[in-house]
Amino acid sequence: NKKIKIGLLGSGTVGTGVIKVLLENVHEITQKIGREVAITKVLVRDLNKKRKIPSTCTIIDDFEEIINDDSIDIVVEVMGGENPAKEYMLRALEAGKHVVTANKDVVAKYGKLMFEAAEKHKVDFMFEASVGGGIPIITPLKQCLTANKILEVMGIVNGTTNYMLTKMTNEKLDYHTVLTEAQAKGYAESDPIADVGGLDAARKIAILSSIAFNTRVHLDDVYVEGITAITPEDIEYARELGYVIKLLAIAKDVPAYGIDVRVHPALVPNTHPLASVNDVFNAIFVKGNAVGETMFYGRGAGEGPTASAVVADIIDISRNIVHKTSGKISCTCFEDKMICPVEK
Ligand code: NAP
Ligand code: HSE
Repeated sequence: NKKIKIGLLGSGTVGTGVIKVLLENVHEITQKIGREVAITKVLVRDLNKKRKIPSTCTIIDDFEEIINDDSIDIVVEVMGGENPAKEYMLRALEAGKHVVTANKDVVAKYGKLMFEAAEKHKVDFMFEASVGGGIPIITPLKQCLTANKILEVMGIVNGTTNYMLTKMTNEKLDYHTVLTEAQAKGYAESDPIADVGGLDAARKIAILSSIAFNTRVHLDDVYVEGITAITPEDIEYARELGYVIKLLAIAKDVPAYGIDVRVHPALVPNTHPLASVNDVFNAIFVKGNAVGETMFYGRGAGEGPTASAVVADIIDISRNIVHKTSGKISCTCFEDKMICPVEK
């Protein structure tokens, strides 16, 4: 009963969480898969940084040591950024290794390329953690809600900005203080302008709408406005009128028009369920023609929640390895099939 071996790319917030969850839940995970899963190599940038990594893992700074290691079955990419993450994942798929990623930059832009490589090499490519942190949303959209014609996907998909807006509203803290707090908690992207400028949310809604509407929604199709222009006065006026300001991501199928995809701050009435989604929590509403309205809620960023989603993908892929069912589910959602005029 050979171990399933993992090469982990990155050991920052998410990578550390993945190592912890795999160790803490080793018995349950082994039972669920029927085989043990072990991280054998961890790729980092700086070999001199102090890290809590078990001695059974070799820490390396050269990706070639993972790609050339035939014993590694799954490459887990949690290093972030477009390059070299995209190149490493593509090479891993081409080498017949399964890939799990939390990287919305790459999935939003190169999802099609990744799926094509995975299909060609009969391996799995999974990305549950790329949207909503610990909230199950990719798999529910791809599988549980797939019977529906999806009418709308809408909600709060960025933990950093929701944390910031919550603190600015409830504790009257200033923008820079709350951004620094969100960074210290490991919620923000390495360049937090992606969070506050709305690009992170745009990447996520591009991914969700591609799956929901079964067509490729490009990042360029998304209208994007972040929270950088929101002032304490805006927040105060909203409060006086019975509203809170939230950064919303919205994708709608507008009949005879196409798919309208946007990210912008919005006034949410205090009575709306999204008004009480605070701190790092995210909430995503999905409306389908058969199911009606569904809501997915939970922690949208951070070590434990994101690791929960990454490890779930690792378990799914491992089960496929054990049962020899890898690479069986092809994904059509990143194909350009419909022309969607999108209002800017
Ligand atoms: P992070 O804390 O900045 O960690 C990045 C890790 O990757 C570090 O260990 C870093 O090495 C390593 N790394 C970066 N570039 C590298 C390179 N060129 N070669 C080798 N190693 C490299 O980032 P994170 O917050 O864990 O996020 C990782 C990914 O998960 C990103 O795609 C992010 O968008 C996504 N994500 C994050 C969260 C969250 O809450 N943080 C939630 C969902 C998804 P050093 O340690 O040596 O610097
Ligand atoms: N920076 C992202 C956020 C991480 O704050 O939502 C989770 O994707």
